Amino acid sequence: MKSMVVLVSGGGTNLQRIIDCIGTAEIPNAEIKLVVADRECFGLQRAEKHGIKNVIIKRGKNFSQKLTDVLPENTDLIVLAGFLSILNKEFCERFPGKIINIHPALLPKFGGKGMWGHHVHEAVLKTGEKESGATVHFVTSGIDEGKIILQKSFEISPNETVESLADKVHEVEYSIFPEAINMVLKDY
Ligand code: GAR
Repeated sequence: MKSMVVLVSGGGTNLQRIIDCIGTAEIPNAEIKLVVADRECFGLQRAEKHGIKNVIIKRGKNFSQKLTDVLPENTDLIVLAGFLSILNKEFCERFPGKIINIHPALLPKFGGKGMWGHHVHEAVLKTGEKESGATVHFVTSGIDEGKIILQKSFEISPNETVESLADKVHEVEYSIFPEAINMVLKDY
């Protein structure tokens, strides 16, 4: 049985999707040992409801060190599921190939500092892109720069809004995130 730690900052619908996949054919052989949030958020309540140990480490300078301190031994995978703090270089380099992130656009486009949540969708619409999607990638010390594991796109419709785009991206995320997690875990 593989063990995961999931990091969240918001509503946690991707966390919910992962929880729902555990023990099914989508993620058959893993458990979530701990959910860490960098602020009060609904994601924590989802963890609590499912009896998953959870903790808040306030965002800020010492976040990565404090995260290291609470990380369960033998953690196979650290999953960033709508997590908005930046993990420091030392932390990223300590766990090469063991941290993955979901990003709400088609990287390498629309990534980097400040590119999160609705900011991404606003930028995509402003640029007049024909398509958007979601990307699961390995986390390295360069923001949103690690190797892509899975990516899926869809066409942007003429009357698309930030909200409708966010909904479509979420649907894509729910389909590729469990698959990417399972792919990575299988390789360990
Ligand atoms: C997701 O769309 C995820 O891709 C995005 O935040 C949303 C979280 O939704 N992540 C980022 O923007 C990270 N740069 P959720 O809390 O419902 O899973």
